[in-house]
Amino acid sequence: MLFARGLLVACFAACGFARSLPNKVRPRQASSTTDAPDAQATICGDIVDSVNEGYQLFWASDAYACLTSVPFNDAVATRFIKYWNDTIQFQSTIAYLKNPPEGYQQPAVDVVAELNRIQQRVNEGSYANQYDFEADFQLLTYALHDSHVYLTAGVLSAFSFAAPYEIASVSSDGKQAPKVYITDDLLNSAKEGWTPSAITNINGTEVNQFLTQFAALNAWGYVEPHAEWNALMSSPTLDIQGGLTVFSGAATFYPGDNLTYTFENGTSLDTYWLAIYNEVANYTGPLTTGGDFYNYFVLGLLPASFDPTLIVSPTYSGDNVSEPANWYNASFGAFPEDPAIAQADLGILGGGFVTGYVLEDISTGVLSLPSFDAIPQTLSNYSLAVNQAIAGAAAANLTRIVIDLQRNPGGATLLPYTIFKAFFPDLSPFAGSRRRSFPLANVIGSATTKYWDALDENNEDDYNFKAQLAADEWVITNRINAATGKNFTSWQEYQGPVNANGDAFSLTERYDLANVVFDIAAFDEYYPVMYLPNKTAWPFQERIFNPDQIVLLTDGLCASACSLFVEMMTRAGVKTIVAGGHPKTGPMQTASGTRGAIVYSAFDLDDDMTFASSIDNTAEATLPQIRDTGVYTKAAGFNVRDQIRKDETTPLQFKYEAADCRIYYTIANIYNMTQLWHDAATAAFIDPSNCVDGSRGFSTTNNTSPNTPPKRQSQKPILSLDTNSVKQVRFDDDPNDGYRSALGKPVGGNDISICPSNGIHIDHLLW
Ligand SMILES: *[C@@H]1O[C@H](CO)[C@@H](O)[C@H](O)[C@H]1NC(C)=O
Ligand SMILES: *[C@@H]1O[C@H](CO)[C@@H](O)[C@H](O)[C@H]1NC(C)=O
Ligand SMILES: *[C@@H]1O[C@H](CO)[C@@H](O)[C@H](O)[C@H]1NC(C)=O
Ligand SMILES: *[C@@H]1O[C@H](CO)[C@@H](O)[C@H](O)[C@H]1NC(C)=O
Ligand SMILES: *[C@@H]1O[C@H](CO)[C@@H](O)[C@H](O)[C@H]1NC(C)=O
Ligand SMILES: *[C@@H]1O[C@H](CO)[C@@H](O)[C@H](O)[C@H]1NC(C)=O
Ligand SMILES: *[C@@H]1O[C@H](CO)[C@@H](O)[C@H](O)[C@H]1NC(C)=O
Ligand SMILES: *[C@@H]1O[C@H](CO)[C@@H](O)[C@H](O)[C@H]1NC(C)=O
Ligand SMILES: *[C@@H]1O[C@H](CO)[C@@H](O)[C@H](O)[C@H]1NC(C)=O
Ligand SMILES: *[C@@H]1O[C@H](CO)[C@@H](O)[C@H](O)[C@H]1NC(C)=O
Ligand SMILES: *[C@@H]1O[C@H](CO)[C@@H](O)[C@H](O)[C@H]1NC(C)=O
Ligand SMILES: *[C@@H]1O[C@H](CO)[C@@H](O)[C@H](O)[C@H]1NC(C)=O
Repeated sequence: MLFARGLLVACFAACGFARSLPNKVRPRQASSTTDAPDAQATICGDIVDSVNEGYQLFWASDAYACLTSVPFNDAVATRFIKYWNDTIQFQSTIAYLKNPPEGYQQPAVDVVAELNRIQQRVNEGSYANQYDFEADFQLLTYALHDSHVYLTAGVLSAFSFAAPYEIASVSSDGKQAPKVYITDDLLNSAKEGWTPSAITNINGTEVNQFLTQFAALNAWGYVEPHAEWNALMSSPTLDIQGGLTVFSGAATFYPGDNLTYTFENGTSLDTYWLAIYNEVANYTGPLTTGGDFYNYFVLGLLPASFDPTLIVSPTYSGDNVSEPANWYNASFGAFPEDPAIAQADLGILGGGFVTGYVLEDISTGVLSLPSFDAIPQTLSNYSLAVNQAIAGAAAANLTRIVIDLQRNPGGATLLPYTIFKAFFPDLSPFAGSRRRSFPLANVIGSATTKYWDALDENNEDDYNFKAQLAADEWVITNRINAATGKNFTSWQEYQGPVNANGDAFSLTERYDLANVVFDIAAFDEYYPVMYLPNKTAWPFQERIFNPDQIVLLTDGLCASACSLFVEMMTRAGVKTIVAGGHPKTGPMQTASGTRGAIVYSAFDLDDDMTFASSIDNTAEATLPQIRDTGVYTKAAGFNVRDQIRKDETTPLQFKYEAADCRIYYTIANIYNMTQLWHDAATAAFIDPSNCVDGSRGFSTTNNTSPNTPPKRQSQKPILSLDTNSVKQVRFDDDPNDGYRSALGKPVGGNDISICPSNGIHIDHLLW
């Protein structure tokens, strides 16, 4: 199945989360003054014991002490660097990252040079422990600002860091610059009738400065800082997906020990950073030493005492659960209780996502699409709910539609194609893409395509295998050459190269959705009937709404299949509105999550190489036989194809694509979707003066001379661990500091242990 999906961090269990992680933590014990720990038992052992007893939350400083007690091995690290260096050649954007065009909002990065630099540090013996090495490595992964580039591996996959209180950034009236509040204060003050006080400082640093830095470090995968900012903040649309914010659950790097919020009213709140353990209880067996941790997390070796029968599987099942068909409770009362349309099996644990609403006073329908990440069994229900919502809006004579895509991380590629056709049955989206053209890729492509072409359709086995392989990434002769409108005739025709920005690329390809054999292979047995000759089966034969009656609402976090949808809709003339971002005026982009066309797993690439070698002599002679990852890797991948517009050469990922209008979240609308949709519809359709100052005129949708995009803020990527900006993640080489050997106490007790029995499962995995 074809996926284009960004980051989703999820809490799959019925956690009953408040907007804050528990604040009552057990009194801390004094730092041990004993000598440096011996190479044997470290705090890692205490943590793993506690996990097996059912705990999942720990002091951040204890997690850090554990992580930095894990030894480093330069040979293993070197193999890992080589694996990634080979793999990252398939990343479509490396030349553009090195030399980004005007309008790109993130620092440039030379990925290969940085990998060489990390290798050099390995050679020089600069890494004192595994955390230190992996932090450097993950910073480089994040510097690509592309959520199709992911890596869940080694000790960094063991923990995520969390502030115990969620925060939200809201304006008092939609015009004043937003301020940051504790989310619980916003929710409770509204109920209880008091006035919350904004945060002025975190840890003594001015709040905006602190959070901007924190976001740049931890909020990965976004092409501009406005989106990184939003990724830190609470959102009802994240709540209904069971997600955690980057600030309160999904931070990668050790943020420090204690944490102080200071408020405008002069008071302050002293607390501590927490760590969430990401591995399932009893999964590892007892791990006592840093070395045990190394064996399990870095080498993937289970201890001899591991007993698989002790594992209690996570509770997420995807089964129907008996929740009513609304998001009201799951969103802390933000979503209405009475949607006009709700997809079957709606719920945090369910398979449904889609709801529809009517704002009668302004004759507006709202279609809420928080994700495209539907499992195959639910794709037709998803599509059905969308179609019912559109048909319902038409029957009610509504004149406008808001499509709410906040927090949409992408998912099934089929959905953007089908939803586009529900709105515009008369149009065909361009949806062109291309990949890097270089020897390794072209060897795989030539071998696989040649083999596929040669399969004999009159032989039943061959025919079936050919059908199965029809959507293979390396079969090209059933894809359309965008330049000719015909099938490519060979890989050689496709591989070009087309030279651009110092790199070589293939020609632009498009899917042939009228090819049912391709569709079935690509889309989990589905075929989109509205792209076929017999499209009379499709409920919409004519468009119901014109582009100027539709607006897309995002928070900038729209990624992958969501950005593909935004691209299709805006090229048809649909306008966009974006909410939130840094507390400063000016424009913001609509879809700052990855705009790559397709995520590709490094493991699939390994299989592709093996397969190509097995069918072709050139491939066998050229391709590496066994690719050794070195470090045990749970998940890893890259963006194999860029989205590329008709007759253009710059990947969409690097174009400045501002929304037509930007609004701030407000105290009144942050946890009231009805209010937010009113505010969005009003700014988009009725009164553009409600848009944030200076946010209009940058959009390229039906605008032939958009304003010049803002200059990017900083030229320097956050890469080097030894810059002042990231002091927190630097390995502290005082061995006495951090090892509280007697401690090892988890954040415990019934009232403060959240999600016992493996409730929280956090992963950067994009399966
Ligand atoms: C881990 O296994 C032990 C039995 O050794 C069991 O008592 C415990 O409940 C298990 N922990 C979890 C969190 O399932
Ligand atoms: C990475 O690959 C490039 C060739 O693509 C090579 O020049 C470089 O030395 C390699 N770096 C490492 C660290 O393996
Ligand atoms: C100050 O503001 C904080 C944050 O809203 C609140 O928790 C606290 O109760 C307020 N204190 C006083 C004295 O008003
Ligand atoms: C907050 O300040 C404390 C004390 O200076 C420090 O230990 C901690 O690392 C800081 N945290 C952050 C995130 O800066
Ligand atoms: C945080 O740590 C610093 C340095 O250890 C200390 O000065 C400060 O008082 C601590 N803050 C809290 C809230 O414990
Ligand atoms: C879930 O429930 C809906 C409505 O009751 C039903 O149509 C659907 O088949 C169920 N799905 C599964 C996976 O059981
Ligand atoms: C929503 O919350 C109310 C009040 O706590 C409760 O009565 C109701 O059962 C909840 N609904 C769901 C679906 O959990
Ligand atoms: C919608 O408009 C049509 C034609 O003007 C009218 O017949 C119908 O009653 C209207 N429907 C509603 C729900 O107002
Ligand atoms: C491309 O080739 C496929 C067979 O692989 C065929 O079904 C399809 O009709 C061709 N499309 C075009 C546009 O020629
Ligand atoms: C549409 O065409 C496809 C492919 O030819 C066929 O499998 C399917 O049954 C047709 N569907 C309808 C509703 O006619
Ligand atoms: C906007 O531009 C697109 C593409 O050029 C065009 O198809 C569409 O009609 C235009 N829409 C509006 C509302 O002007
Ligand atoms: C949410 O906003 C709507 C529209 O302004 C308003 O009618 C409603 O009372 C608000 N709900 C709450 C709980 O404040």
